[in-house]
Amino acid sequence: MSATDVTRTQVGIVGAGPAGLVLGHLLHLQGIESVILEDRDRAYVEGRVRAGVLEQGTVDLLIEMGVGERLKREGLVHHGVELRFGGKGHRIPFDELTGGRGITIYGQQEVVKDLIGARLEAEAPLLFEVDDVRPAGIESDSPVLRFRHEGEERELRCEVVAGCDGYHGVCRSAVPDGAFSYRERTYPFGWLGILAEVEPSSEELIYCHHDRGFALHSMRSPEVTRLYLQCEPDEDIERWPDERIWEELHTRFTCEGWSLKEGPIVEKGVTPMRSFVSEPMQHGRLFLAGDAVHIVPATGAKGLNLAVADVRVLAEALVRWFSAGDETLLENYSETCLPRVWKAQHFAWWMTSMFHRMPDDRDGFTARLQRAELEYVCSSKAAATTLAENYVGLELEDV
Ligand code: APR
Ligand code: PHB
Repeated sequence: MSATDVTRTQVGIVGAGPAGLVLGHLLHLQGIESVILEDRDRAYVEGRVRAGVLEQGTVDLLIEMGVGERLKREGLVHHGVELRFGGKGHRIPFDELTGGRGITIYGQQEVVKDLIGARLEAEAPLLFEVDDVRPAGIESDSPVLRFRHEGEERELRCEVVAGCDGYHGVCRSAVPDGAFSYRERTYPFGWLGILAEVEPSSEELIYCHHDRGFALHSMRSPEVTRLYLQCEPDEDIERWPDERIWEELHTRFTCEGWSLKEGPIVEKGVTPMRSFVSEPMQHGRLFLAGDAVHIVPATGAKGLNLAVADVRVLAEALVRWFSAGDETLLENYSETCLPRVWKAQHFAWWMTSMFHRMPDDRDGFTARLQRAELEYVCSSKAAATTLAENYVGLELEDV
C-alpha cells in the first residue's frame, strides 16, 4: 500500500516540523506506525528559516535516532556566548560553568531536511500539501483525521492524534471550550532577521543590548551569518532596505576593535515575540507538542529544543502504552513536560526582558535596571552559571 492509501494508523501526526518529524521517527524506530500530515509542500518546509541553536540533549537525541551524521559533520559546536553592552563584550564560558557542556549551531531547516530524508528512506507515510485537516472524536477510543489530499476527501482512523502543527495549527482548537487554559504575553517589539552570505564576524553568538534596541549576531555556517535587530512588532519590511539594516546593525554592535562583516542579504523576515502556554497539553486521545502548545520568545533559542523535549517524552509514553498496555506515562504526559516548559518560558522571558529596549521606559529606569543586571550576570559566577546552564539546556526528564 502506498503512503497515500493509508486509512488507518496507530498515531496520526499533524505537522511536519521538528516536533512531528522527531516523534514520527522515534515511533518508527520502536515499530509503531504513524502517518504525518503536512499542509505545506516539501520545498517550503525544508526552506523555512527558523532558529539554529541545538542544546546538547537535542543533539544527543538526534544522533541516537540515527539522523545526526550531517549534524556531526556540519554543526558548529560553541562553548560560550558574548553579551555586549556599553560598547564592550563579556564572554560567558559555558564549558567552565556547566561542566563542559555547550551548544551546536545547525539550522532548524537542516534538522528538518535530515528528518524528512530519514522518514522517506524508512518508507513511512508523510503526506505534503494536505488541506483542511479536521481532527474529530478525540474523546473517543478511535479519533479520526479528515482532510483533503490531491483533490480527494480522505479519512485517517487513528488510535492517538499528535498535534504537532505549530501555533497556527488546528489541533489545539479541536478540544471542547474550557478544556485548556491559556496563559500568554505579547511583547511590544519584534525581530527583523536576515541571512547574509558572509563569514561570521565572531566565532560565537553575540547578544547585544543597546539604547537603540537589541541586536543578535548568529550564524549558520562558516560562510553564512544570521543577524537580528529589535524592531516594531508589526514592522513593515519594506521600510528596511539593505543599507538601512547594515547601518543599524553597525550602530548597535559598535565595540572597540571589532567590526561587522557585510555580505549579500539572501533572506529577510520579521518575527513577532510572544510567550504562550496551553495547560494541560493533552485531552482524551489528543496530545499536543511543540509550538502547537507553547511559544517562547526567540531570545535564548528554546523553541526547537522544547519541541524535541516534548516529543521525546510523548514517544516513550506511546511506546509504553502500545507495547505494554501501560497508560501511566501517557496520562502524565503534560505533568512531565510542563515544569520544563515553564522553566524555558522563564528563561526566554528573562533574556528578553534583560536585552530589549522597552518602548514605555520614558525616564530610562528600566534601561538602568537592565544594565545593572547585565553587569551582575557578567561579574558574578553564580549569575553567569544561571544563564549558562539554562542556555545549554536543563537536564532532560527521566522517562
Ligand atoms: N495541517 C497540517 N499541517 C499544519 C497545519 C494544518 N492545519 N497547520 C500547521 N501545519 C504544519 C506547519 O506547516 C509546520 O510545518 O505544522 C508544522 C509545525 O511546525 P513548526 O511550526 O516548526 O513547529 P514545531 O514542530 O512545534 O517546532 C518548534 O521551534 O524554533 C522554534 O518556532 C520554531 O518551528 C519551530 C519550533
Ligand atoms: C538563530 O541563530 O537563529 C538564533 C540564535 C539565538 C537565538 C535565536 C535565534 O536566541
